[in-house]
Amino acid sequence: MKTLLAALLFYGRFALPFSRIGHRRRVGAGVRERFDFRGQRWLVTGASGGLGAAIASRAARNGAEVVAMARDARRLEALAHAVDGPGRIIPTMVDLSLLAAVDQAGRAAAASGGFDVVVHNVGVMVHDFERTPEGGERGLATNLLGHHVLDRALRESGAISASTALIAMSSGGAYGARLDLAALEADDPRAHDGFAAYAQHKRAQVALVEAWNAEGPGPAYAMHPGWVDTPGVATALPGFRRFFGPVLRSAEEGADTALWLAATRPPPRPDTIWLDRHADPAHAFGFTRSGASPAELRASLEARAAAAGIAGGAAAHGTSTA
Ligand SMILES: NC(=O)c1ccc[n+]([C@@H]2O[C@H](COP(=O)([O-])OP(=O)(O)OC[C@H]3O[C@@H](n4cnc5c(N)ncnc54)[C@H](OP(=O)(O)O)[C@@H]3O)[C@@H](O)[C@H]2O)c1
Repeated sequence: MKTLLAALLFYGRFALPFSRIGHRRRVGAGVRERFDFRGQRWLVTGASGGLGAAIASRAARNGAEVVAMARDARRLEALAHAVDGPGRIIPTMVDLSLLAAVDQAGRAAAASGGFDVVVHNVGVMVHDFERTPEGGERGLATNLLGHHVLDRALRESGAISASTALIAMSSGGAYGARLDLAALEADDPRAHDGFAAYAQHKRAQVALVEAWNAEGPGPAYAMHPGWVDTPGVATALPGFRRFFGPVLRSAEEGADTALWLAATRPPPRPDTIWLDRHADPAHAFGFTRSGASPAELRASLEARAAAAGIAGGAAAHGTSTA
């Protein structure tokens, strides 16, 4: 009964703004406007499909060189071929749930130069508890730990500067969660709840962005795309997709705020999630406000990365911190 009421409250509050109708009300129909990203270098994770592919291809069509990270080489190559300039896509195969690989890929990408925009887009809803070969739960590793490790690798390699915009793809699911560090990963696999874990990770992304803004040097934004018809939704939420199908957004509509943030760079605001080019409050319900702090989250992620054998610090990698 309590769950049903919570669901009614959540969908009653968000179904309209998160739908395609919400996007059209705030941004208008279609997103055809051009931005000038010529000369810029971007990194986009989870870029072989869904929102990541839409972000990478629009950035490249508007002039950026985009390091596009995902696992599927064939789909990344197809994406790169589909872009006819003026920028280009550089397919970069990496499993973003494997922290050592993420660390290595970040440092390798940074070796070719700094980034103007980094979009931490990759995210998955994992219903069955599954450990990566490194021992962590796959959802947490993909949705959050990998973002932290990639960010750290880029910072330590000098690829993040005052002109770098960091964009984290959170989710409306964050509105239903109070950040609880103990709940980022279930102690007992039998207690794993894919929906609840995903909401935790997405709430944590918002806190991680606060930590990034506190550290600087450039602006960081947490955004969410609304409800978008992507392969990820088709796989993880088939019932939701059947029900809301007619009002789901296109990937281009969901991706629009990321492109707009990168182009306009509004001053970052605390306790904010961007949707449809607007800074919405990061909390819709009082109970979500009392969670762990951004600093506590960052310390917890650092400890988890260390436990997985991913040492931070420039000294560990012989890289510059310029
Ligand atoms: N769609 C929505 O309605 C919605 C709503 C709110 C938030 N979001 C968020 O938006 C982001 C993108 O969602 P989406 O719906 O576009 O997802 P998607 O359709 O599942 O696409 C995600 C991409 O991530 C890649 N990926 C998944 N696991 C990976 C891994 N371990 N390593 C490297 N790449 C990996 C996949 O490519 P490979 O298979 O090639 O690796 C895929 O191309 C996620 O963070 C999601 O939580 C989406």
